[in-house]
Amino acid sequence: MSFSSSTTEAIPTTFSPQGVDLTQVCQQFGTPLYLYDADVIIRQINTLKNAFTYSKVKFKYAAKALTNISVLKLIRQQGIDLDVVSIQEAHIGLKAGFSAQQIMYTPSGVPFSEIDEAIALGVQMNVDSLPLLRYIGERYGNTVSCCLRLNPDIRAGGHAKISVGHNESKFGIALSQLDLVVDVVKQYGITINGLHIHTGSDIKDPEVFAQGAQRLYAAAQHFPDLQFIDFGSGFKVAYKEGDVATDIPQLARLMEDSFQEFCQQYGRELEMWFEPGKLIVSDSGYLLAEVTVVKENPGINFVHLDTGLNHLIRPMMYEAYHEIVNVTNPDGDLQPYHVVGYICETDTIAENRMLPQVRQGDIVAIKNAGAYGFSMASNYNARLRPAEVLIHQGEAKLIRQRETMDDILQNQIEISL
Ligand code: LLP
Repeated sequence: MSFSSSTTEAIPTTFSPQGVDLTQVCQQFGTPLYLYDADVIIRQINTLKNAFTYSKVKFKYAAKALTNISVLKLIRQQGIDLDVVSIQEAHIGLKAGFSAQQIMYTPSGVPFSEIDEAIALGVQMNVDSLPLLRYIGERYGNTVSCCLRLNPDIRAGGHAKISVGHNESKFGIALSQLDLVVDVVKQYGITINGLHIHTGSDIKDPEVFAQGAQRLYAAAQHFPDLQFIDFGSGFKVAYKEGDVATDIPQLARLMEDSFQEFCQQYGRELEMWFEPGKLIVSDSGYLLAEVTVVKENPGINFVHLDTGLNHLIRPMMYEAYHEIVNVTNPDGDLQPYHVVGYICETDTIAENRMLPQVRQGDIVAIKNAGAYGFSMASNYNARLRPAEVLIHQGEAKLIRQRETMDDILQNQIEISL
């Protein structure tokens, strides 16, 4: 089976990534299991690199999508920089070999003590509010160059919860407050070296990025020391057959044309940054799970898995569609199922999904689980988080151990009562 993807060519989806037998992988590492295909990550990165021709384009992988250190290392080796949103992500990035200069730090309303820590690390600051800008000015004067996260006031994205570039969203500084920003910048002599927007996630239409760009170009006239403009991300990937993904080559043409024009007016060639998360890792990942129970209810059959919203929250949180493959019975008769997790509350992964007959003990692969899968996983119901495995050069390598009961208990303190 194959479906249209985030690249212009169709991405072949295979159920034995790099020839690796998924059943065997499950036997070796157990289920549930997050499995990533390094070749897909590299292919997605090349899609981006090949689409853009401007020599000063930089991609900062949004670490939040998948923060495993081995994956970060792989991405770094492809010449990609990093975007982080917490000090912890910054530390993982440094540990994975990124230099502080390669890291963009985009916090959202974090304590200022964390800001001090990030500044001490030397990462690029991305300032999300006027109080933070004032804090940096007061404490550091003109010694810390800052990027400004502006709110473009554009409503776009695949779901209300991931639409973050409009004025009712908590993110960024409103364009209508630019005068106040300029006052603070002047007061402390702060160097503004970049402007940033991030409009949302799952944005299909390249025009949305072009529209956001125009708002940044207009704002840029207030800041003479810019070195880069960061257009964020939100590139949509295909989750199912027929899904239309962001056309990356089209996006590249659109953005590069307007950017070069802008640079001419601005008087200097600036760097053009993007911060893709999903596009780089979504397609690479599978959540492999075992079918624990098939419950034949009147009207519909339920397939229970040994995983749930604790490991993959996207269906419950964003009503996200994830394709499911019956790995061990691919040729069974197609039947409708509700696929559900083992968590003790409504925990629906798919509704009325046609799948080849599912039997207890079958292995299923939930696709597009590379982005915001493990990174949003929790220990709800005191469940253990899965192991992670990376298929690299044809070999399945463990990159995170499955949690144990000790991990669940290790920070708990049993007091005498
Ligand atoms: N840059 C910034 C500042 C961001 O906030 C994000 C994502 C990205 C880059 C990467 O966006 P991407 O290329 O992955 O769309 N958990 C949701 C997505 C939330 C994204 C939050 N910000 C999901 O599973 O769909």
